[in-house]
Amino acid sequence: MQLKPFKCLIREKCGLSFDDSREAILTEGIKSRLSRRALASHEEYLDLLAREPHEFNSLLNLITVNETYFLRESVHFTLLTEKLLPDMLAGKKGGRIKIVCAGCSTGEEPYSIAMALMMKFGPAFSRLFSLVAFDIDEEALGKARAGLYPGHSFRGVPDHIQKVFFREQGNGFRINDAVREGVEFLRLNLFSDSYPETVMNADVIFYRNVSIYFEPGAQQRIFRNLAGMLNEKGYLFLSSAETSVHDIGVLSLIEMEGIYLYGKGVAVEIGERRKQPDGRPKPFSAAPPGVPGAAAAGTKRPVIRKKDEPHQDFDRALALAGGKKYDDALQLTERIIGMQPSFVKAHMLRAGILINLQRLDEAETVCLCGMGHDQWNLEGHLLLGLIARARGDVEEAKKRFKKAVYVKSSCWLAHFYLAEIYRGEGDRQPACREFEIVIKLLEEKGFSEHGLTFFSLSFPMEQVVHLCRHNLAEMKRGKA
Ligand SMILES: C[S@@+](CC[C@H](N)C(=O)[O-])C[C@H]1O[C@@H](n2cnc3c(N)ncnc32)[C@H](O)[C@@H]1O
Repeated sequence: MQLKPFKCLIREKCGLSFDDSREAILTEGIKSRLSRRALASHEEYLDLLAREPHEFNSLLNLITVNETYFLRESVHFTLLTEKLLPDMLAGKKGGRIKIVCAGCSTGEEPYSIAMALMMKFGPAFSRLFSLVAFDIDEEALGKARAGLYPGHSFRGVPDHIQKVFFREQGNGFRINDAVREGVEFLRLNLFSDSYPETVMNADVIFYRNVSIYFEPGAQQRIFRNLAGMLNEKGYLFLSSAETSVHDIGVLSLIEMEGIYLYGKGVAVEIGERRKQPDGRPKPFSAAPPGVPGAAAAGTKRPVIRKKDEPHQDFDRALALAGGKKYDDALQLTERIIGMQPSFVKAHMLRAGILINLQRLDEAETVCLCGMGHDQWNLEGHLLLGLIARARGDVEEAKKRFKKAVYVKSSCWLAHFYLAEIYRGEGDRQPACREFEIVIKLLEEKGFSEHGLTFFSLSFPMEQVVHLCRHNLAEMKRGKA
């Protein structure tokens, strides 16, 4: 299929870019809509897409990435409720403080803010604050308005908080009405030329994990639009992985309590703070991307680094991990990611080490952060599968290993874990098939094609093959 004209049309209408790693999503989306509309050719569908806004939205609903969860990068909410909002309330002459969530997906982010506001300012928080959330994806907004969430939306939520704000309903959890009513949802394309009054004059904007899907020109245009939406002395949060690329002179990059964010008309900028009395730049503390709670630890980051330095550091970090010097390796990966947030392999190495140390929540956050740069990263899916497996979440593990196989069908490790899951479920046929694939792949391509940067298994290939043959024989005899 000729994807180029589709990519151009989508980029023109909403800024989203589909590089090679994301082509599979686009292709699947187009195929699905084509069959739904019973059209024979891609040309016909392209024509329809350009003419019918409704069809364009239907395709968008399929190709946007809605990955989100409650209390994601929760240090931002702490800074908001403990520092920014109390200061704003003290200086406010009247009217409510407006918080806007741009690219809110299925609602976990704005509802997290509402919960944080309720915990800090009480059930009548809506008298002090208005909370507006928008997204381009109508289906995601439908779910946000419904406020019913599956278990995996709560991966970062302590039990006691979940109990306060949600009640069990069917297979999911329903958010309580006071929180739900505290958020207004609307559909809005960030790439529009103008924004409605409802979102203008915002005091705080959350624009996290959205810009990574835009091409650089669109990123800058949208960032300018958002800056225009923001009141003087207002603040804008991006995810830690996205922050540095937006330091383009539109808003001031500031550091507060180890967290980086942008401010409008704010006096102290990073560039200013970094200058010492003799005019030389001073190192500043870097918030380790994607690790909630670790930001305040304040690791030092030198300002000037050579271009190839992250890659040399990466090799050193890998060697340190191999030598079981995990703390040193973690420190180094933190620095690499701080220098080059788009270095996905460094995120994966870090996540792999954290899994090895059983620090699963941190590993998951780092992994998702890395996958923000490359949604179809094989290692990302493998590691998320391992995390789910370690938590006993078989369905999620199965989903992730299947995705890994989809990304690279010759990844024996993904087939191996799928085989083990099917075996555990007593599903003999698919288990046997998967074990046979593992044996074939190992014999043809060897052990090293496992797909992980940091692989801590120490047994030889023959042992894996032997184990697979043993399991196969047992299952064929009807024992397992
Ligand atoms: C990965 S989710 C991020 C959700 C949430 N902000 C978070 O950090 O967890 C990205 C969201 O951006 C939305 N999005 C993508 N392009 C958009 C656009 N042009 N206008 C508005 N929203 C957009 C997608 O529909 C998707 O729901």
